[in-house]
Amino acid sequence: MVDSKRPSKHPATQAVTGGRRKIWTKAVVNPPVWRASTHLYNNVADLREGLNSNEDGNFFYGRRGSPTQWSLAEALTEMEPGAAGTMLYPSGVAAIACAMLAVLNPGDEVLLTDSSYDPSRSYADAFLKRMGVTARYYDPLIGADISNQFTDKTKAILLESPGSLTFEVQDVPAICSAAKTAGVTTLLDNTWATSRFFPALHYGVDISIIAATKYIVGHSDVMMGAVTTHKKYWTKIRRTAQQLGQIVSPDDAYLAARGLRTLEVRLKQHEASALQIAHWLKDRPEVGAVLHPALPDCPGHEIWKRDYSGSSGLFSFALKDGDDRSRADFIDALELFGIGYSWGGFESLALPVDPEKHRTATKWSMDGNLVRLNIGLEHPDDLIADLAKGFEHYNK
Ligand SMILES: Cc1ncc(COP(=O)(O)O)c(C=O)c1O
Repeated sequence: MVDSKRPSKHPATQAVTGGRRKIWTKAVVNPPVWRASTHLYNNVADLREGLNSNEDGNFFYGRRGSPTQWSLAEALTEMEPGAAGTMLYPSGVAAIACAMLAVLNPGDEVLLTDSSYDPSRSYADAFLKRMGVTARYYDPLIGADISNQFTDKTKAILLESPGSLTFEVQDVPAICSAAKTAGVTTLLDNTWATSRFFPALHYGVDISIIAATKYIVGHSDVMMGAVTTHKKYWTKIRRTAQQLGQIVSPDDAYLAARGLRTLEVRLKQHEASALQIAHWLKDRPEVGAVLHPALPDCPGHEIWKRDYSGSSGLFSFALKDGDDRSRADFIDALELFGIGYSWGGFESLALPVDPEKHRTATKWSMDGNLVRLNIGLEHPDDLIADLAKGFEHYNK
């Protein structure tokens, strides 16, 4: 559904121009909110013709979307070199679930990185298990040795790079190359980097998944997921999403597209502020490891340097010599950092995280209690002052 006549441009330009076809925008800048269930045909012949040309981008029925959703999907496709299309879902978890469902059958086995987002694990351990699919976990830093994990039953592998609590950067090209040789489909949760900092398909991934709730929307007011894939998987991904009735509201698509237009400047600021704060934390006596992919403490840092063109605003750090209570005292003392799930919005967040509770293939043995920070768009000096105040309450 991408307009192949469009020249390729810088990602910043692509984010601004993507999906804004004249037939969808008419005389205005943003494709308007088209609220519709029924799409009306001129006559019965047109109705029947609609069945023959039922591509996204043509009016058909509300569950297939309208120009508001098509435009956003097309913009996301254009931002991922090599992509054939993007499907939208009502949450990031729905995108992960539907993408896995599209490529797995009863009797299959799926491998998941041990650093996977916890709801991805729950989905695999409960829902996929009920479907007769076995889930097995692997060390996120396994690299090319993943080939030793493949059995005749292995049909898909889920990567998440970096892990969204512990930030191990995976050797995506090595894993994808081994998977390709073994005929295993690769799916990557690319929410942290987005296609802006890591064009997943270019690095060998088959199916790139983004929780658009985070950086695409960027304003903490919409839930959405997106799956972008190349030609080989596009029909499967699209059909499965449609069979499962996946649709996002035009209002949400409008807001997500609005977020997308400023992705470049937001990501750059998230990146600069997060790096400043991560370096400041590194020098604090209360802090052990700083798990930020752009810092050497982070497992997989060398891979990040090799493959990623930037870093976003989410990272973790370890508090030394304290316990769960003193970590809570530190977080509770923060004023600019809210306490809550999610990330990628304009507001900063702090979260206590305990990776040891989720691991099965590897043991989490890093010293200290982890705090995950979402660095928002407040001035980094104010955020640093807030964190300094938090440390005044740590172990007191
Ligand atoms: C890495 C990662 N993937 C997927 C999701 C799921 O996205 P959503 O909250 O939109 O379901 C999240 C949410 O926090 C996440 O952190």
